[in-house]
Amino acid sequence: MTGSVMVTGGAGYIGSHAVLALLDAGIQVVVLDNLVTGFDWAVDSRATLVVADIEDDAAVRAAMRDHAVFAVMHFAGSVVVPESVENPLKYYRNNTAASRSLIESAVAEGVKHFIFSSTAATYGIPETVPVREDSPKQPINPYGMSKLMTEAMLADVAAAHAINYCALRYFNVAGADLQGRSGQSTAGATHLIKVAVEAATGKRASVSVFGTDFATPDGTGVRDYIHVTDLAAAHVDALQLLIDQPGESHTLNCGYGKGFSVLEVLDAVDRVTNMTIDRRMEGRRAGDPDALVADNAAILAALPWRPRHDDLDGIVRDALAWERKLAERV
Ligand SMILES: NC(=O)c1ccc[n+]([C@@H]2O[C@H](COP(=O)([O-])OP(=O)(O)OC[C@H]3O[C@@H](n4cnc5c(N)ncnc54)[C@H](O)[C@@H]3O)[C@@H](O)[C@H]2O)c1
Repeated sequence: MTGSVMVTGGAGYIGSHAVLALLDAGIQVVVLDNLVTGFDWAVDSRATLVVADIEDDAAVRAAMRDHAVFAVMHFAGSVVVPESVENPLKYYRNNTAASRSLIESAVAEGVKHFIFSSTAATYGIPETVPVREDSPKQPINPYGMSKLMTEAMLADVAAAHAINYCALRYFNVAGADLQGRSGQSTAGATHLIKVAVEAATGKRASVSVFGTDFATPDGTGVRDYIHVTDLAAAHVDALQLLIDQPGESHTLNCGYGKGFSVLEVLDAVDRVTNMTIDRRMEGRRAGDPDALVADNAAILAALPWRPRHDDLDGIVRDALAWERKLAERV
């Protein structure tokens, strides 16, 4: 591949892992990130970091030109679901309007391929589980809607211009780079495994379990946890697919097709840490589905990608190793 891949949000959790996967595959990378939640130290030194907002057309287009960008992987965004309910316009600005601006820059600069971080939140409360890509999309929060709107833009843009795209709908992303080069570093994270390993390293006193009366075997919410390294690898394979089939675009679930309840995850954390993390039973949060598990038949058919780290204890172990490393940094 000649030229570079632009990774927006490459200083953040998932983006920094995609940067590693691209670099490890011998692909040149330019990261564009405004560092609102990301960290410059999270960007591998083999990549170029441009500190800019994706809405800054001049900076984005200059970076695309300077680095001969032929593909964009777009991770930049705002990611906290409850915050999107309190402040929807922030999400429609940063996830929808700013994405529109980035896509416009990409089209103007002749970028050929676009990979978008979408989410299982586009499905809302699924009617059937596991959920397929063609299941009804009825987001129940502005976060999910802000992402679905960007998917719709991409479909229209790919029909009108010489660009194809892959929207990857992530389920619950967890874990950290196996070589300890990156992990989830955001303060105040709300993801269960991150919160639990924070409790294991003494950053928190307990872990809240939101809802014990769901229609699941143990009453707690069931989710599909995907290792961030597997997710990053899916992006590299998706890029190759877009290159190989220029006229075609794709929307693919990214998950293992297997769900674990909150209590099963916390049992795994207790096993891995050899501790008993304090659990606080609390009421449901608004709009949490009982179960959200991917039907991953489409990604398995479209890409050579296969899950390699689909082991809950391993995911927890890697997240814990990173959390310990983070604790040493401060
Ligand atoms: N973490 C998950 O489980 C999950 C699930 C589904 C989808 N996603 C999506 O994956 C993407 C990455 O999420 P993450 O968990 O790594 O979050 P993160 O907050 O760690 O990373 C987001 C990055 O984007 C940057 N950023 C935000 N707005 C920007 C802007 N306007 N211009 C330039 N940079 C900007 C931030 O500084 C940060 O480095 C997001 O789009 C998110 O919606 C995440």
